[in-house]
Amino acid sequence: MTLEDVKKILENEEQTHLLRFYDELKESEKEQFLEQLSAIDYGLLDLLRDKDELGKKGVISPITKCVSIEDAKANKEHFESIGLDAIKKGKVAALLLAGGQGTRLGSDKPKGMYNIGITKDVYIFERIVRNLLDVVEKSGAWIPLYIMTSEKNNVDTIDFFEKMNYFGYDKKYVEFFVQEMAPACDYNGKIYLEEKGRVATSPNGNGGWFISLMKSGIGEKAKKAGVEWINVFAVDNVCQRIADPVFVGATIDSGMPSGSKVVSKVSPEEKVGVLCYEDGKPSIVEYYELSEEMRYERNEKGDLVYKDGVILNYLFRFDKLEDIMNNQLVVHIVEKKIPYINEDGEKVSPEEPNGYKFETLVLDMIHMMDDCLAFEVDRSYEFAPIKNKTGVDSVESARELLKQNGVEL
Ligand code: UTP
Repeated sequence: MTLEDVKKILENEEQTHLLRFYDELKESEKEQFLEQLSAIDYGLLDLLRDKDELGKKGVISPITKCVSIEDAKANKEHFESIGLDAIKKGKVAALLLAGGQGTRLGSDKPKGMYNIGITKDVYIFERIVRNLLDVVEKSGAWIPLYIMTSEKNNVDTIDFFEKMNYFGYDKKYVEFFVQEMAPACDYNGKIYLEEKGRVATSPNGNGGWFISLMKSGIGEKAKKAGVEWINVFAVDNVCQRIADPVFVGATIDSGMPSGSKVVSKVSPEEKVGVLCYEDGKPSIVEYYELSEEMRYERNEKGDLVYKDGVILNYLFRFDKLEDIMNNQLVVHIVEKKIPYINEDGEKVSPEEPNGYKFETLVLDMIHMMDDCLAFEVDRSYEFAPIKNKTGVDSVESARELLKQNGVEL
């Protein structure tokens, strides 16, 4: 696109300030900048107008079927044999969402490179690979591992896996792909510049993983190789079981097109999203989206009615993902600290949130499925997310749980 074409777009979108430093750029920088400006999804900014209406929930009701910890124990052999059979036949892949920026942890490297060891090095990526290797050893089959990165951390992530020799995983079965980016803007919807010739962008959330997987060509390859199920999981839960044969088997056995690992909430106030139905379809509601009454509602046994907290470990049937691929996911507008270049061309790193980022979330894909099996896991064994350095969901709390589970740190 020429400068004139881009100018027209920016005038239409009321974003002409982005060209403020254009004349100072070198020819090659100008070209790249115009390319970036012409590829931006300006439609996202229109969403700001009705920001409070986005993602409004329908009628919420509790889920009716959950494989509880006791059910899973009682049916372990049956579920596990179904799961192992699928794994051995190459029908199950694992997909690690590692495109986030881990801002709360405050490291400028990919979160998976964080060293949680005490007396020796133990990296988050290492724990994840180790957990998957348990299933490889049990099933005798390598499980394809797809890793989503962003343009901000792709090189670091791949270099680290190379340097660490894939933590013992067979690299033939590991593939990396890069997710898309979205622009970041101020509270008035003006897009920020991160350099004089570069728009401020950030990874567009973890909801675009399937589209990015397909765009990369890996999705097609997976399909041809016979992958029928994808287990999607977050980078930060160092205890979670991945491609867990019992979970895979239970989901296949249920006939449902998706499954979600859940943990029982420890209290009505615990800040986790819960699996439920929304207008008759599976859905995940955030703790603040539940009414006060729902949050405290208990059944005749005294259990919370909305108790199934999600842990970002989902199983999706491949063909269903293809069906919904072109459906628009809800865009979440989140307030963040966005480093930018001010009118004088100086770099500013704000201490407080100064604008919005746009993200879609994998949890919203659950609502596009006909049904979703809730599969309960023991939180003292499987739930140790690392979001912060200290306190709740932190390096400290994860270390405690790892130690309890006999992991040397
Ligand atoms: P979080 O919501 O915890 O975000 O991501 P984050 O970016 O890692 O951390 P903060 O909020 O900045 O502190 C949950 C999972 O989704 C992935 C993350 O890597 C993590 O595994 N994710 C998040 C992506 O893959 N892409 C994104 O754009 C955002």
